[in-house]
Amino acid sequence: MKRSIIITGGAGFIGSHVVRLMVNKYPEYRIINVDLLTYAGNLNNLRDIENKPNYRFVRANICDTNTILSLMKEERVDGIIHLAAESHVDRSIKDPVGFATTNILGTISLLQAAKLYWESLPEKYEGKRFYHISTDEVYGALEMTNPEGIESPFTTKASSAHHHAYGTKFFTEDLKYNPHSPYSAAKASSDHFVRAFHDTYGMPTIVTNCSNNYGPYQFPEKLIPLFINNIRHRKPLPVYGKGGNVRDWLYVEDHARAIDLIFHQGKTAETYNIGGFNEWKNIDIIHLLIETVDRKLGRKKGEDESLITYVTDRAGHDLRYAIDSRKLQRELGWEPSLQFEEGIERTVDWYLNNQAWMDNITSGEYEKYYEDMYGNR
Ligand code: NAD
Ligand code: DAU
Repeated sequence: MKRSIIITGGAGFIGSHVVRLMVNKYPEYRIINVDLLTYAGNLNNLRDIENKPNYRFVRANICDTNTILSLMKEERVDGIIHLAAESHVDRSIKDPVGFATTNILGTISLLQAAKLYWESLPEKYEGKRFYHISTDEVYGALEMTNPEGIESPFTTKASSAHHHAYGTKFFTEDLKYNPHSPYSAAKASSDHFVRAFHDTYGMPTIVTNCSNNYGPYQFPEKLIPLFINNIRHRKPLPVYGKGGNVRDWLYVEDHARAIDLIFHQGKTAETYNIGGFNEWKNIDIIHLLIETVDRKLGRKKGEDESLITYVTDRAGHDLRYAIDSRKLQRELGWEPSLQFEEGIERTVDWYLNNQAWMDNITSGEYEKYYEDMYGNR
Protein backbone atom coordinates (compact mmCIF):
# COMPACT_ATOMS: atom_id res chain seq x y z
CA MET A 1 0.00 0.00 0.00
CA LYS A 2 1.23 3.48 -0.83
CA ARG A 3 1.20 6.02 1.96
CA SER A 4 1.88 9.73 2.20
CA ILE A 5 3.26 10.62 5.62
CA ILE A 6 4.25 13.90 7.25
CA ILE A 7 6.97 13.50 9.85
CA THR A 8 7.26 16.67 11.95
CA GLY A 9 10.60 17.51 13.57
CA GLY A 10 12.40 15.26 11.08
CA ALA A 11 15.53 17.43 11.13
CA GLY A 12 15.99 16.89 14.87
CA PHE A 13 17.65 14.03 16.70
CA ILE A 14 15.01 11.28 16.86
CA GLY A 15 13.04 12.61 13.88
CA SER A 16 16.05 12.27 11.56
CA HIS A 17 16.38 8.59 12.49
CA VAL A 18 12.67 8.03 11.85
CA VAL A 19 12.86 9.83 8.48
CA ARG A 20 15.94 7.81 7.45
CA LEU A 21 14.34 4.50 8.43
CA MET A 22 11.05 5.22 6.62
CA VAL A 23 12.65 6.66 3.46
CA ASN A 24 14.97 3.65 3.11
CA LYS A 25 12.50 0.97 4.14
CA TYR A 26 9.47 2.16 2.15
CA PRO A 27 10.52 3.42 -1.31
CA GLU A 28 6.84 3.30 -2.33
CA TYR A 29 5.84 5.81 0.40
CA ARG A 30 6.04 9.58 0.21
CA ILE A 31 7.85 10.91 3.28
CA ILE A 32 7.47 14.64 3.93
CA ASN A 33 9.68 16.09 6.62
CA VAL A 34 8.11 19.24 8.10
CA ASP A 35 10.55 21.12 10.29
CA LEU A 36 11.00 24.77 11.24
CA LEU A 37 14.78 24.33 11.62
CA THR A 38 15.04 25.90 15.05
CA TYR A 39 18.43 25.78 16.76
CA ALA A 40 17.82 22.01 17.18
CA GLY A 41 16.95 21.27 13.55
CA ASN A 42 19.86 20.36 11.32
CA LEU A 43 19.65 19.23 7.70
CA ASN A 44 23.16 17.77 8.05
CA ASN A 45 21.42 14.96 9.94
CA LEU A 46 19.86 13.81 6.67
CA ARG A 47 22.53 14.25 3.98
CA ASP A 48 22.53 10.53 3.11
CA ILE A 49 18.83 10.46 2.13
CA GLU A 50 18.06 14.04 1.04
CA ASN A 51 18.10 13.20 -2.68
CA LYS A 52 15.91 10.10 -2.51
CA PRO A 53 12.85 10.39 -4.80
CA ASN A 54 10.36 9.49 -2.03
CA TYR A 55 11.60 12.28 0.28
CA ARG A 56 10.64 15.95 0.52
CA PHE A 57 11.68 18.59 3.04
CA VAL A 58 9.37 21.49 3.85
CA ARG A 59 10.45 24.24 6.20
CA ALA A 60 7.30 25.17 8.12
CA ASN A 61 6.01 25.90 11.60
CA ILE A 62 3.59 23.35 13.04
CA CYS A 63 1.72 26.29 14.60
CA ASP A 64 0.76 27.44 11.08
CA THR A 65 -2.47 25.49 10.51
CA ASN A 66 -3.08 26.88 7.00
CA THR A 67 0.34 25.94 5.67
CA ILE A 68 0.05 22.43 7.09
CA LEU A 69 -3.49 22.09 5.71
CA SER A 70 -2.39 23.12 2.20
CA LEU A 71 0.52 20.71 2.36
CA MET A 72 -1.75 17.88 3.47
CA LYS A 73 -4.09 18.56 0.55
CA GLU A 74 -1.25 18.85 -1.95
CA GLU A 75 0.43 15.63 -0.80
CA ARG A 76 -2.81 13.77 0.07
CA VAL A 77 -1.38 12.98 3.46
CA ASP A 78 -2.87 9.97 5.25
CA GLY A 79 -0.49 9.72 8.19
CA ILE A 80 1.28 12.09 10.57
CA ILE A 81 4.13 11.12 12.88
CA HIS A 82 4.53 14.10 15.18
CA LEU A 83 7.93 14.66 16.79
CA ALA A 84 8.42 18.43 16.45
CA ALA A 85 8.81 19.99 19.87
CA GLU A 86 10.99 22.02 22.14
CA SER A 87 12.74 19.14 23.88
CA HIS A 88 15.32 20.38 26.41
CA VAL A 89 14.23 20.56 30.07
CA ASP A 90 16.78 23.26 31.02
CA ARG A 91 15.54 25.51 28.22
CA SER A 92 11.94 25.02 29.38
CA ILE A 93 12.87 26.36 32.81
CA LYS A 94 14.05 29.58 31.10
CA ASP A 95 11.23 29.79 28.56
CA PRO A 96 7.99 28.10 29.68
CA VAL A 97 5.84 30.19 27.32
CA GLY A 98 7.92 29.21 24.27
CA PHE A 99 7.55 25.56 25.26
CA ALA A 100 3.78 25.88 25.71
CA THR A 101 3.51 27.58 22.31
CA THR A 102 5.37 24.91 20.35
CA ASN A 103 4.45 21.80 22.30
CA ILE A 104 0.81 22.55 23.14
CA LEU A 105 -0.43 25.05 20.55
CA GLY A 106 1.73 23.49 17.82
CA THR A 107 0.19 20.08 18.49
CA ILE A 108 -3.37 21.46 18.54
CA SER A 109 -2.72 23.33 15.33
CA LEU A 110 -1.46 20.16 13.66
CA LEU A 111 -4.45 18.18 14.94
CA GLN A 112 -6.77 20.87 13.60
CA ALA A 113 -5.17 20.80 10.13
CA ALA A 114 -5.50 17.00 10.06
CA LYS A 115 -9.12 17.22 11.21
CA LEU A 116 -10.04 19.80 8.54
CA TYR A 117 -8.40 17.82 5.74
CA TRP A 118 -9.46 14.31 6.70
CA GLU A 119 -13.05 15.31 7.48
CA SER A 120 -13.29 16.89 4.00
CA LEU A 121 -12.62 13.52 2.33
CA PRO A 122 -15.39 11.06 1.40
CA GLU A 123 -13.77 8.27 3.41
CA LYS A 124 -13.02 10.70 6.31
CA TYR A 125 -10.78 9.08 8.94
CA GLU A 126 -10.64 5.62 7.37
CA GLY A 127 -7.04 4.53 6.75
CA LYS A 128 -5.65 7.61 8.55
CA ARG A 129 -3.33 7.84 11.52
CA PHE A 130 -2.15 10.65 13.78
CA TYR A 131 0.78 9.36 15.83
CA HIS A 132 2.05 11.60 18.62
CA ILE A 133 5.53 10.99 20.06
CA SER A 134 5.72 11.79 23.75
CA THR A 135 7.97 11.22 26.72
CA ASP A 136 8.12 9.25 29.97
CA GLU A 137 8.58 12.57 31.80
CA VAL A 138 4.80 13.13 31.77
CA TYR A 139 4.51 10.49 34.52
CA GLY A 140 6.68 12.55 36.89
CA ALA A 141 9.40 10.95 38.98
CA LEU A 142 9.66 7.55 40.64
CA GLU A 143 11.03 6.95 44.11
CA MET A 144 14.51 5.57 44.48
CA THR A 145 13.83 2.91 47.07
CA ASN A 146 17.07 1.04 46.25
CA PRO A 147 19.82 3.66 45.84
CA GLU A 148 22.51 0.99 45.45
CA GLY A 149 20.51 -0.84 42.78
CA ILE A 150 18.85 -4.26 42.89
CA GLU A 151 18.73 -6.89 40.20
CA SER A 152 16.08 -5.72 37.72
CA PRO A 153 13.00 -7.97 37.66
CA PHE A 154 12.74 -7.32 33.91
CA THR A 155 15.43 -7.14 31.27
CA THR A 156 15.64 -6.79 27.49
CA LYS A 157 18.43 -6.97 24.95
CA ALA A 158 19.04 -3.27 25.66
CA SER A 159 19.60 -3.76 29.39
CA SER A 160 23.05 -2.93 30.64
CA ALA A 161 25.40 -5.64 31.89
CA HIS A 162 24.71 -4.51 35.47
CA HIS A 163 20.91 -5.03 35.13
CA HIS A 164 20.14 -2.60 37.92
CA ALA A 165 16.79 -1.25 38.98
CA TYR A 166 16.85 1.56 41.56
CA GLY A 167 13.33 1.02 42.83
CA THR A 168 10.46 -1.42 42.63
CA LYS A 169 8.00 0.80 40.72
CA PHE A 170 8.02 1.48 36.96
CA PHE A 171 6.07 3.80 34.65
CA THR A 172 3.10 1.86 33.23
CA GLU A 173 0.59 3.16 30.70
CA ASP A 174 -2.21 3.44 33.29
CA LEU A 175 -0.27 5.76 35.65
CA LYS A 176 -1.73 9.18 36.37
CA TYR A 177 0.19 12.01 34.69
CA ASN A 178 2.25 14.05 37.16
CA PRO A 179 4.67 16.27 35.20
CA HIS A 180 7.04 18.62 37.02
CA SER A 181 8.97 20.70 34.48
CA PRO A 182 7.46 23.19 32.01
CA TYR A 183 8.71 20.81 29.27
CA SER A 184 6.94 17.75 30.64
CA ALA A 185 3.83 19.76 31.57
CA ALA A 186 3.60 20.99 27.98
CA LYS A 187 4.13 17.47 26.60
CA ALA A 188 1.49 16.12 29.01
CA SER A 189 -0.97 18.75 27.83
CA SER A 190 -0.31 17.88 24.19
CA ASP A 191 -0.92 14.19 24.93
CA HIS A 192 -4.31 15.09 26.41
CA PHE A 193 -5.25 17.11 23.31
CA VAL A 194 -4.33 14.21 21.03
CA ARG A 195 -6.59 11.87 23.03
CA ALA A 196 -9.33 14.53 23.05
CA PHE A 197 -9.28 14.62 19.23
CA HIS A 198 -9.87 10.88 19.23
CA ASP A 199 -12.62 10.97 21.84
CA THR A 200 -14.39 14.03 20.40
CA TYR A 201 -13.96 13.72 16.62
CA GLY A 202 -13.01 10.07 16.16
CA MET A 203 -9.54 10.88 14.84
CA PRO A 204 -7.42 7.68 14.78
CA THR A 205 -4.67 8.69 17.17
CA ILE A 206 -1.88 6.87 18.99
CA VAL A 207 0.43 8.18 21.72
CA THR A 208 3.74 6.67 22.78
CA ASN A 209 5.90 7.67 25.75
CA CYS A 210 9.58 6.83 25.47
CA SER A 211 12.51 6.98 27.87
CA ASN A 212 15.81 8.86 27.30
CA ASN A 213 17.29 8.29 23.83
CA TYR A 214 20.98 8.32 22.97
CA GLY A 215 22.96 7.86 19.75
CA PRO A 216 24.19 9.80 16.69
CA TYR A 217 22.91 13.27 15.72
CA GLN A 218 21.80 14.38 19.20
CA PHE A 219 22.20 18.11 19.84
CA PRO A 220 25.10 18.67 22.28
CA GLU A 221 23.02 20.27 25.01
CA LYS A 222 21.91 16.80 26.15
CA LEU A 223 24.01 14.82 28.63
CA ILE A 224 25.68 12.20 26.43
CA PRO A 225 26.81 14.23 23.36
CA LEU A 226 27.68 17.24 25.55
CA PHE A 227 29.92 15.16 27.76
CA ILE A 228 31.58 13.23 24.89
CA ASN A 229 32.44 16.54 23.24
CA ASN A 230 33.63 18.13 26.49
CA ILE A 231 35.86 15.14 27.29
CA ARG A 232 37.31 15.34 23.79
CA HIS A 233 38.14 19.04 24.34
CA ARG A 234 39.03 18.55 28.01
CA LYS A 235 36.34 20.98 29.14
CA PRO A 236 34.57 20.73 32.53
CA LEU A 237 31.75 18.17 32.84
CA PRO A 238 28.88 19.91 34.70
CA VAL A 239 27.21 17.23 36.85
CA TYR A 240 23.91 18.38 38.35
CA GLY A 241 23.59 17.86 42.11
CA LYS A 242 25.40 14.72 43.19
CA GLY A 243 24.93 12.90 39.87
CA GLY A 244 22.60 10.41 41.59
CA ASN A 245 19.53 10.91 39.36
CA VAL A 246 18.49 7.87 37.37
CA ARG A 247 17.50 7.78 33.71
CA ASP A 248 16.44 4.82 31.55
CA TRP A 249 18.39 4.82 28.25
CA LEU A 250 17.40 3.47 24.84
CA TYR A 251 19.40 3.55 21.60
CA VAL A 252 17.69 5.96 19.21
CA GLU A 253 17.46 3.46 16.32
CA ASP A 254 15.54 1.09 18.57
CA HIS A 255 13.08 3.92 19.29
CA ALA A 256 12.76 4.59 15.54
CA ARG A 257 12.05 0.87 14.92
CA ALA A 258 9.36 0.96 17.60
CA ILE A 259 7.79 4.03 15.96
CA ASP A 260 7.69 2.28 12.57
CA LEU A 261 6.06 -0.81 14.13
CA ILE A 262 3.51 1.18 16.12
CA PHE A 263 2.63 3.45 13.20
CA HIS A 264 1.77 0.37 11.14
CA GLN A 265 0.45 -2.08 13.73
CA GLY A 266 -0.47 -0.13 16.86
CA LYS A 267 -4.10 -0.09 17.96
CA THR A 268 -5.98 3.17 17.52
CA ALA A 269 -6.46 5.21 20.70
CA GLU A 270 -3.85 3.15 22.56
CA THR A 271 -0.83 4.32 24.49
CA TYR A 272 2.42 2.37 24.45
CA ASN A 273 5.44 2.96 26.67
CA ILE A 274 8.81 2.46 24.96
CA GLY A 275 11.99 1.60 26.85
CA GLY A 276 14.55 -1.13 27.29
CA PHE A 277 14.76 -1.63 31.10
CA ASN A 278 18.13 0.06 31.29
CA GLU A 279 18.44 2.31 34.35
CA TRP A 280 21.62 4.25 35.02
CA LYS A 281 22.70 6.80 37.58
CA ASN A 282 24.09 9.85 35.78
CA ILE A 283 27.45 9.62 37.53
CA ASP A 284 27.93 6.00 36.43
CA ILE A 285 27.26 6.93 32.81
CA ILE A 286 29.72 9.81 33.15
CA HIS A 287 32.48 7.46 34.40
CA LEU A 288 31.70 5.12 31.50
CA LEU A 289 31.92 7.97 28.98
CA ILE A 290 35.25 9.17 30.38
CA GLU A 291 36.68 5.64 30.27
CA THR A 292 35.40 5.05 26.72
CA VAL A 293 36.48 8.38 25.20
CA ASP A 294 39.92 8.27 26.88
CA ARG A 295 40.51 4.69 25.64
CA LYS A 296 39.51 5.60 22.08
CA LEU A 297 41.70 8.72 22.07
CA GLY A 298 44.68 6.76 23.46
CA ARG A 299 44.72 8.74 26.71
CA LYS A 300 45.73 7.31 30.09
CA LYS A 301 42.91 5.50 31.96
CA GLY A 302 41.13 7.83 34.35
CA GLU A 303 43.03 10.85 33.07
CA ASP A 304 39.91 12.92 32.48
CA GLU A 305 38.07 12.05 35.72
CA SER A 306 39.30 15.43 36.98
CA LEU A 307 36.97 17.16 34.50
CA ILE A 308 33.96 16.17 36.64
CA THR A 309 32.56 19.37 38.15
CA TYR A 310 29.56 19.26 40.48
CA VAL A 311 27.25 22.21 39.79
CA THR A 312 23.94 23.51 41.16
CA ASP A 313 21.16 21.01 40.63
CA ARG A 314 18.49 21.48 37.96
CA ALA A 315 15.36 23.07 39.49
CA GLY A 316 12.69 20.41 40.11
CA HIS A 317 15.11 17.70 38.94
CA ASP A 318 13.18 14.41 38.59
CA LEU A 319 14.90 11.71 40.62
CA ARG A 320 14.23 8.50 38.70
CA TYR A 321 12.64 7.45 35.41
CA ALA A 322 12.07 3.78 34.62
CA ILE A 323 9.78 2.63 31.83
CA ASP A 324 7.79 -0.57 31.83
CA SER A 325 7.56 -1.46 28.13
CA ARG A 326 6.09 -4.94 28.54
CA LYS A 327 2.80 -3.98 26.88
CA LEU A 328 4.62 -3.12 23.65
CA GLN A 329 6.68 -6.31 23.84
CA ARG A 330 3.60 -8.46 24.57
CA GLU A 331 1.14 -6.91 22.11
CA LEU A 332 3.34 -5.98 19.15
CA GLY A 333 6.42 -8.16 19.72
CA TRP A 334 8.85 -5.20 19.87
CA GLU A 335 12.30 -5.86 21.34
CA PRO A 336 15.20 -3.43 21.45
CA SER A 337 18.24 -4.74 19.60
CA LEU A 338 21.29 -3.03 21.07
CA GLN A 339 22.77 -3.64 24.50
CA PHE A 340 23.68 -0.42 26.30
CA GLU A 341 27.46 -0.85 26.68
CA GLU A 342 27.67 -1.72 22.94
CA GLY A 343 25.47 1.27 22.16
CA ILE A 344 27.81 3.58 24.08
CA GLU A 345 30.83 2.20 22.17
CA ARG A 346 28.99 2.85 18.91
CA THR A 347 27.84 6.32 20.00
CA VAL A 348 31.29 7.47 21.15
CA ASP A 349 32.78 6.14 17.88
CA TRP A 350 30.16 8.07 15.91
CA TYR A 351 30.84 11.41 17.64
CA LEU A 352 34.62 10.99 17.42
CA ASN A 353 34.41 10.01 13.73
CA ASN A 354 32.00 12.84 12.88
CA GLN A 355 33.78 15.76 14.44
CA ALA A 356 32.88 17.99 11.50
CA TRP A 357 29.16 17.48 12.33
CA MET A 358 29.80 18.48 15.95
CA ASP A 359 32.15 21.35 15.10
CA ASN A 360 29.61 22.74 12.66
CA ILE A 361 27.09 23.01 15.50
CA THR A 362 29.46 24.19 18.19
CA SER A 363 31.04 26.96 16.14
CA GLY A 364 29.20 30.26 15.70
CA GLU A 365 26.08 30.80 17.80
CA TYR A 366 26.54 27.77 20.06
CA GLU A 367 28.90 29.32 22.63
CA LYS A 368 26.56 32.26 23.03
CA TYR A 369 23.57 29.99 23.33
CA TYR A 370 25.34 27.90 25.94
CA GLU A 371 26.39 30.93 27.97
CA ASP A 372 22.89 32.47 27.84
CA MET A 373 21.50 29.21 29.13
CA TYR A 374 24.01 28.23 31.76
CA GLY A 375 26.14 31.31 32.47
CA ASN A 376 29.89 31.07 32.39
CA ARG A 377 30.51 27.68 33.98
P1 NAD B 1 15.10 17.74 19.02
O1 NAD B 1 15.09 18.96 19.88
O2 NAD B 1 16.41 17.13 18.65
O3 NAD B 1 14.34 18.04 17.65
C1 NAD B 1 13.14 18.78 17.60
C2 NAD B 1 12.89 19.16 16.15
O4 NAD B 1 11.63 19.86 16.09
C3 NAD B 1 13.95 20.09 15.57
O5 NAD B 1 14.35 19.63 14.30
C4 NAD B 1 13.23 21.44 15.46
O6 NAD B 1 13.70 22.25 14.39
C5 NAD B 1 11.80 21.00 15.25
N1 NAD B 1 10.81 22.03 15.67
C6 NAD B 1 10.80 22.70 16.85
N2 NAD B 1 9.77 23.58 16.85
C7 NAD B 1 9.12 23.43 15.66
C8 NAD B 1 7.96 24.03 15.08
N3 NAD B 1 7.28 24.99 15.73
N4 NAD B 1 7.58 23.63 13.87
C9 NAD B 1 8.26 22.66 13.19
N5 NAD B 1 9.37 22.07 13.68
C10 NAD B 1 9.79 22.45 14.91
O7 NAD B 1 14.15 16.69 19.76
P2 NAD B 1 14.29 15.11 19.95
O8 NAD B 1 15.15 14.85 21.11
O9 NAD B 1 14.60 14.50 18.64
O10 NAD B 1 12.79 14.76 20.37
C11 NAD B 1 11.80 14.56 19.36
C12 NAD B 1 10.48 14.26 20.03
O11 NAD B 1 10.61 13.10 20.84
C13 NAD B 1 9.98 15.37 20.96
O12 NAD B 1 8.60 15.47 20.82
C14 NAD B 1 10.35 14.87 22.36
O13 NAD B 1 9.45 15.37 23.31
C15 NAD B 1 10.21 13.38 22.17
N6 NAD B 1 11.07 12.54 23.04
C16 NAD B 1 12.42 12.76 23.11
C17 NAD B 1 13.22 11.91 23.86
C18 NAD B 1 14.71 12.08 23.94
O14 NAD B 1 15.36 11.40 24.74
N7 NAD B 1 15.32 12.95 23.16
C19 NAD B 1 12.63 10.85 24.57
C20 NAD B 1 11.24 10.66 24.50
C21 NAD B 1 10.47 11.52 23.71
O1 DAU C 1 13.07 10.91 29.48
C1 DAU C 1 12.91 11.40 28.18
C2 DAU C 1 13.48 12.79 28.08
O2 DAU C 1 14.90 12.65 28.09
C3 DAU C 1 13.03 13.53 26.83
O3 DAU C 1 11.65 13.71 26.87
C4 DAU C 1 13.75 14.89 26.71
O4 DAU C 1 13.38 15.50 25.49
C5 DAU C 1 15.24 14.66 26.75
O5 DAU C 1 15.90 15.88 26.71
C6 DAU C 1 15.64 13.86 28.00
O6 DAU C 1 15.45 14.66 29.19
P1 DAU C 1 16.53 14.68 30.38
O7 DAU C 1 16.38 15.93 31.13
O8 DAU C 1 16.50 13.38 31.14
O9 DAU C 1 17.91 14.67 29.48
P2 DAU C 1 19.28 15.50 29.64
O10 DAU C 1 20.23 14.90 28.66
O11 DAU C 1 19.07 16.96 29.64
O12 DAU C 1 19.76 15.07 31.11
C7 DAU C 1 19.97 13.72 31.48
C8 DAU C 1 20.35 13.70 32.95
O13 DAU C 1 21.65 14.28 33.10
C9 DAU C 1 19.43 14.50 33.84
O14 DAU C 1 19.28 13.85 35.10
C10 DAU C 1 20.16 15.84 34.02
C11 DAU C 1 21.60 15.43 33.96
N1 DAU C 1 22.53 16.45 33.37
C12 DAU C 1 22.22 16.96 32.15
C13 DAU C 1 23.04 17.91 31.56
C14 DAU C 1 22.69 18.50 30.22
C15 DAU C 1 23.69 16.83 34.06
O15 DAU C 1 23.98 16.33 35.15
N2 DAU C 1 24.50 17.78 33.46
C16 DAU C 1 24.21 18.33 32.25
O16 DAU C 1 24.99 19.21 31.78
